[in-house]
Amino acid sequence: MSDTFGKSALLLSLILGMGQAQANSVPSSTEAALANAHGIPYPAVIAHRGASFDAPESTAPAYTLARDLGADYLEMDLQRSKDGVLFALHDNSLLRTTDVAKKFPERKDSPASAFTLAELKTLDAGSWFNQAYPDRARASYVGLPILTLDEIIDIAQGNPEHTPGLYIETKQPKLFPGIEHDLHHTLSKRGWLAPVTGTTTGSQVGLGKGRIILQTFDKNSLELLQKEMPDTPKILLLWVGEGGMTPDTSVSFADSGAKDKAAYYAKQQPKDQTEFTQWLDFAKANGAIGTGPSAALTHGGDQSYFDLIQPWMNKATHDRGLLVHVYTLDAPVDFKKAMDAGVDGIFTNRASELLKYYQRPAPHSVNQLLENNGF
Ligand code: G3P
Ligand code: CA
Repeated sequence: MSDTFGKSALLLSLILGMGQAQANSVPSSTEAALANAHGIPYPAVIAHRGASFDAPESTAPAYTLARDLGADYLEMDLQRSKDGVLFALHDNSLLRTTDVAKKFPERKDSPASAFTLAELKTLDAGSWFNQAYPDRARASYVGLPILTLDEIIDIAQGNPEHTPGLYIETKQPKLFPGIEHDLHHTLSKRGWLAPVTGTTTGSQVGLGKGRIILQTFDKNSLELLQKEMPDTPKILLLWVGEGGMTPDTSVSFADSGAKDKAAYYAKQQPKDQTEFTQWLDFAKANGAIGTGPSAALTHGGDQSYFDLIQPWMNKATHDRGLLVHVYTLDAPVDFKKAMDAGVDGIFTNRASELLKYYQRPAPHSVNQLLENNGF
């Protein structure tokens, strides 16, 4: 079957099968129709660790702000406490974003998963932000707690006018055997896996069939997520190097002469086209509805990685009927580059800016919304 015929057939079948799709947009392209058929907004605004430019990542102000701005999804990195509770935190270590060194000096280098939930809840996950970003600091950020998955679900459900979906990553799943099952249990218990009836509007993604997107860099975790939740959309995150695609060069950062990690990553590529497309084929064969590639950012920085959104890459992904959600872009120049290259949604720390770029501005300012929520 030729690509052209394949895309036309896919579009037709999606349009015919759209009875249960959300009524939030009129598809204007094959990819928009594909997203719509999954109940996923097109293009999607994915609030990376919440509105984490404006508030400490993965905390209540970050997630309530993202929700009230009108982001489509609250993104989180899922871990499990020593006593078995699912919570959101990006790093394995607590050192960067909490005061663990002060509260538990002898255990400060232990992974977050070595702490009980009660212990994690004693930590201050907000003050680091005030020190790192004094221009965005707020007194109300001091002492913010780490959040459980249940608490983030409460936030998602907490504004009748905007119910975002949840975009949940199994972070370091090898450290958490069975986390896919635990996630299934919590989402099911909270009613987020129940069949969806009727249609929803664009600001109620969390009430429609695309309300949960599961994401992972780990092929084995994708298989386990598919086994646990076969009907829930999944994204395979893409990376070059350890745990990801084989790179085209084995030169280390130290030997590369690159001035920083961003410059080093920007020079790296998958070994060849086949290496890239093998990951797409794995994603497709194991139930993913799309991929989450990295991008090289125009202005660099610590979230600037490999350029995996080159037009041929996006075309190869679309030709397989898969969506592309790129991580993690904050600048309009990068929003434009990514959209021009053909992506279908963007992870961003600056949901307010991406919503403006998509001409879906929030009705209130970031300051106003933070204040409305007591921050
Ligand atoms: O989940 C994908 C996106 O969040 C980028 O990865 O390292 O920020 O979780 P990371
Ligand atoms: Ca993540």
